[in-house]
Amino acid sequence: MADDDHIEALLARLSRTQKLALVRGAADPEGTATGYLPGVEAAGIPPFRLVDGPLGIRAEGQRATAFPASIATAATFDTDLARRQGAAMGREATALGQDALLAPGVNIIRVPQCGRNFEYLSEDPVHAGAVGAGLVDGIQSADVVATVKHFVANNQETHRTTVSAEVDERTLRELYLPPFRAAVDAGVGSVMTAYNRVNGTHMSDHERLVGDVLKGEWEFDGYVVSDWYGLESTVGAANAGMDVEMPGVAAPGAADAADSDTADDGEDFEWPDGIPDATHAGLFGDPLADAIDSGEVPAARLDDMVRRVLGQIDRFGRLDGDQTAVEDGESDDQAGELDSQRHRDIAADVAARGTVLLDNDGVLPLADGADVAVIGPNIDEPKLGGGGSSETTPVHSVTPVEGIESRAEGAVTTAFGVPQIESVSLFDLLPFVGEDDEADGSAEDTTRREPSLDDAVDAAAAADVAVVFVRDATTEARDRNTLALPGRQDELVSAVAAVNENTVVVVRSGGPVELPWREDVAAVLEQWYPGQADGDAAAAVLYGDRDPSGRLPVTFAPQSEYPTVGAERRYPGVDDEVYYDEGVFVGYRHFDDADTDPTYPFGHGHSYATFEYGDAETTGDQTVAVPVENVADRPGREVVQAYVRPPSVAGVDRPQRELAGFEAVQLDAGERRTVELALDDLAFSRYGPDAGWTVDTGAYTVEIGRSSRDIRTTASVDR
Ligand code: GLC
Repeated sequence: MADDDHIEALLARLSRTQKLALVRGAADPEGTATGYLPGVEAAGIPPFRLVDGPLGIRAEGQRATAFPASIATAATFDTDLARRQGAAMGREATALGQDALLAPGVNIIRVPQCGRNFEYLSEDPVHAGAVGAGLVDGIQSADVVATVKHFVANNQETHRTTVSAEVDERTLRELYLPPFRAAVDAGVGSVMTAYNRVNGTHMSDHERLVGDVLKGEWEFDGYVVSDWYGLESTVGAANAGMDVEMPGVAAPGAADAADSDTADDGEDFEWPDGIPDATHAGLFGDPLADAIDSGEVPAARLDDMVRRVLGQIDRFGRLDGDQTAVEDGESDDQAGELDSQRHRDIAADVAARGTVLLDNDGVLPLADGADVAVIGPNIDEPKLGGGGSSETTPVHSVTPVEGIESRAEGAVTTAFGVPQIESVSLFDLLPFVGEDDEADGSAEDTTRREPSLDDAVDAAAAADVAVVFVRDATTEARDRNTLALPGRQDELVSAVAAVNENTVVVVRSGGPVELPWREDVAAVLEQWYPGQADGDAAAAVLYGDRDPSGRLPVTFAPQSEYPTVGAERRYPGVDDEVYYDEGVFVGYRHFDDADTDPTYPFGHGHSYATFEYGDAETTGDQTVAVPVENVADRPGREVVQAYVRPPSVAGVDRPQRELAGFEAVQLDAGERRTVELALDDLAFSRYGPDAGWTVDTGAYTVEIGRSSRDIRTTASVDR
């Protein structure tokens, strides 16, 4: 904990100007940080650098380990692995001179085509909260401040800087707030507010959710930071509980872009949808000083803002420079770690363990000596992540072709088949990023040979197995307009499957996608965005060196069957208001309530091993114990899931089941283990606007299974 007397003494020495320098971002003289506080040298307060993002460190001009998409980390259902990834990212932030990491993103996946689903964790709040807390714990174990984002109800990119999420209190409390509460309970040092409004009020100005709930009820004692250019007002934000304005200064070139009197079509300049006004900065500079002078903002509020910032700087040893990223047994001169073998292994571990085996007729794992045709429009490039502030640039990466060629013992042929799928990026949408600012390596590759569908079909026909890699393309600031794969990829898969019954499809998507050919192929793997380890992780799972232990953090279904599709008011909204009419019935909660069979349910994923469940039993303190046995002749990893079905109560509309706990267990061939899942009171509670959290009296059924639709055993808990 911060040394309060030390902080108070420091605070007392600061002038108002010095205090203001700690609550409003400035330009980083070294140019590496995403956000920068200059500190107060005279008072021994060092500069403080904040850096993106959830998939690895995006320090300007620097390379770092490119971890898989956050949804892949979530698909491992392994909070310890999430913690290890967080610690690795924290060490890399330190190695690159950064003090706070702008991660994890924990917004609930409500809209299946949302452009940032890859950066988020789950459609379920318990799952998102557990994985998010693991990441927070890991990041901060390396003495780096974690920043949970984006508080709250930032569930779409369309109109994200203006739209108002119209959400009732019960839905907020049961679905959208819990992942942030879990991060606060895990000791997160910072919370980033969302751009959007909630029930009409900008989150940066939201006194009830930021002041009363986050800081009041939850007793959050870190600092609240705005999203970039996301401060709506000076007085409103300061009094609501905002503590730090970021980036605090206009983006270079933004003013020129905005000053262009007319855009090409003769209209006044408008910022593209989803792109914040990058000249909107400095609200916590002189305007805040004026507001304090006028009495609109109490001077004590500025002290509280500074106290919270200094508290986190001090908590992580950055006031007296004794911060080190020290692991057990490491020497304490370890000042961070970058692109180490340990970090490469963690990135590969997450990519492999996050891979979900959706279907398999037995073609997988591949025989070492099989002749393999590797097919797909992007097989010569790794799928590192999605577009936007989470983009990372690795030192090292492995393409699908490289991964399979280095693992296969049979012949390997390759074919693109159809035109390359172009990545999309928020940075391509920024009106003030010039041509020469483009990230290196993004120049059009004119040497690429023309794709030929015939070549792909011929290669598939001649091989024992055809492995087709397909992908979507998503970015921050844009939602997709369909769940179909882009380009001619569906056509490619169907053409290959028509000539080879052993066709395996490896999907790289940032969330649910439609797979119309799924019943025509032998196996389907969902790899999300696997990061730098791409091809190696794919090969390890394809050849059975790693068990595909991922489970779906989101429901896969035809686009028309999601609750947010078909009614504009639910998405993308009408007149800048989006109505969460579905309430808590999001994801599997919706599909259960609608009694609709999804394509693949929440929690689904096959293993190469086979698991049998014994009878579940409850012990006195709401813990459920269940024996699980691996009856296969090979090791495997099982994710044991516990769902709670509440008693029916007149007038109360509750989901049929809700995830209450889970545990990933590695079992050797023939190994049997009793898994214990401790269920907390929230697992039995519902939120009522008047009574708050309530546990209805009655018998609760605890369902234990492999997915929300594959329940193997039950137990009963009376409340
Ligand atoms: C972006 C994102 C946020 C990111 C920040 C800094 O607009 O919404 O996730 O951390 O700005 O890049």
